[in-house]
Amino acid sequence: MGIGYINGKYIPLTEPVIPIEERGHQYGDGVYEVIRVYKGKPFMLSEHIDRLFISATAIKLQLECNKSYFNDLIKQAIKVSGLLESKIYLQITRGIAPRNHLFPDVPVSITMTVNEMIPLDPVFRESGVKAIFHEDERWANCHIKSLNLLPNILAKQAAQEMGCFEAILHRDGWITEGSSSNIFIVKNNELYTTPLSNKILAGITRRAVIQLCEKLSINVIQHPFRKKDLIEADEVFMTNTTNEVVPIVEVDGIYKIGFGTPGNMTKRLYQQFQQEIYQD
Ligand code: PDD
Repeated sequence: MGIGYINGKYIPLTEPVIPIEERGHQYGDGVYEVIRVYKGKPFMLSEHIDRLFISATAIKLQLECNKSYFNDLIKQAIKVSGLLESKIYLQITRGIAPRNHLFPDVPVSITMTVNEMIPLDPVFRESGVKAIFHEDERWANCHIKSLNLLPNILAKQAAQEMGCFEAILHRDGWITEGSSSNIFIVKNNELYTTPLSNKILAGITRRAVIQLCEKLSINVIQHPFRKKDLIEADEVFMTNTTNEVVPIVEVDGIYKIGFGTPGNMTKRLYQQFQQEIYQD
């Protein structure tokens, strides 16, 4: 059973607490992070906290507390939850104030949930998953991990309705990222991924994979690529905090990637990723 946290208080997950005039649910006026906990330890915590501050600064959300406050808060929440394998969602909103578009002069609101991590069904790793292409309909600041996820939700739902696991977003045919993941393609044993810009989220798992490739002397080219390049790739995989590295083997029900089964590079990177996590 997971736990919840709101502004200094731990609560049961089922407790109804968000006040009506809370800007997170009225406007989506806030930012968030998702952190994976392995063996009781938060994975790449300082990178997540750095990104949280980048997001907060980008939306002019004034945080009164410093990075070490969040470091301690997250570690405390893990302890309170008693969970060794979990995922933490941390949201910061512009607070609770009478509805008005303008910034209120009130403290920010900090909420968290710590939930047991139910691992991805191994069938998805063994057989790979299907995806759809979907026009990227989001705004121009996708590097901000904003609570506004409506275009992402609509794209993911469209994928599910087509019997697929992920929507691969593109702007005029240029791949940006997944609805909740970053996308890599493999061609001739080299990796390609969309370069960082305001068009994508700087995924922490994306960074972990790139670091892993440096260690393994695998070339990663951060360069824009098109739908056509993805369809013709030897392998495609997605990365995110909750699912780690997942092979994509078919797109739009017609394009088989490689042999239509997970490729060796994707399998190797997933295995190495697991080794890094569980080595100590
Ligand atoms: N989402 N791009 C988008 C749009 C995402 O929502 C995510 C992650 C990523 C990958 O980032 P990371 O490797 O740091 O998890 C890329 C999380 C899992 C979520 O919102 O639940």
